[in-house]
Amino acid sequence: MYQLIDGKAISQQIKDELKEKVEKLKTQGTEICLAVIQVGNDPASGVYVNNKKKACAYIGIQSLSYELPEETTEEELLKLIGELNAKEEVNGILVQLPLPKQINEEKILLAIDPAKDVDGFHPANVGNLSIGRPGYVSCTPAGVIQLLKRSGIEIEGKECVVLGRSNIVGKPMAMLLLRENGTVTVCHSRTKNLKEITKRADILVAALGKPKFVDASYIKEGAVVIDVGIHRNENNKLCGDVDFEEVAPHTSAITPVPGGVGPMTIAMLMHNCVEGVENS
Ligand code: GUN
Repeated sequence: MYQLIDGKAISQQIKDELKEKVEKLKTQGTEICLAVIQVGNDPASGVYVNNKKKACAYIGIQSLSYELPEETTEEELLKLIGELNAKEEVNGILVQLPLPKQINEEKILLAIDPAKDVDGFHPANVGNLSIGRPGYVSCTPAGVIQLLKRSGIEIEGKECVVLGRSNIVGKPMAMLLLRENGTVTVCHSRTKNLKEITKRADILVAALGKPKFVDASYIKEGAVVIDVGIHRNENNKLCGDVDFEEVAPHTSAITPVPGGVGPMTIAMLMHNCVEGVENS
């Protein structure tokens, strides 16, 4: 029987720990404030942004909401970021991605003060992660590490295979597993003999963005499987990058979709907001 890794419960535990910390900081006169910027009205982004604001309210973090129209120019967004960078009372700045096509995403992420980059997307934070210096870490991969640790799954010395090499998940995921002394392989769309590699994995992280791509033929018996994907199938039901029904019986532990990695992203964003203030 496999262990079902409960991201909902673990994220709630993290949020409750943070809530307590924030209450203590308040008694010491310290308030935390996150600026959340959304450009345009992508419905998925709207849901994410709302959930981020709700989590802030639950934990006791002030959130400033900036909802900008679809036709916002790059200059206008850069100007807002500049103002928020300069505001001492703003501790964190989050620009929800994706951005409308007239705005260069890289330019925007570079403009955020790395000390306020709670998403961990600025090259300074990415670089710090890769050389083991302190800094903000991308929330989804940081959440995966918490899921593993809080489920009693050891990483040290394990064969870890990451499927996907995105800047937001795959690459920082590999760095974090390496930091935990895992032996890490990153696979991607040009990888040859993919199954040979994934079948070596003690811990397999699927973050390739293809619904139900990973079936039982990719899995070593007893592996731990973490599913970062989230998609809607033909019946409008949520599913991940892993075919859960088929794969789960072959694992020792697995995350469901929904209720696995998803809730952890916001919990770790909240963690970053609090940690940034504690360390400053
Ligand atoms: N869009 C999808 N995921 C994320 C995320 O973690 N942060 C931001 N800012 N935008 C996203």
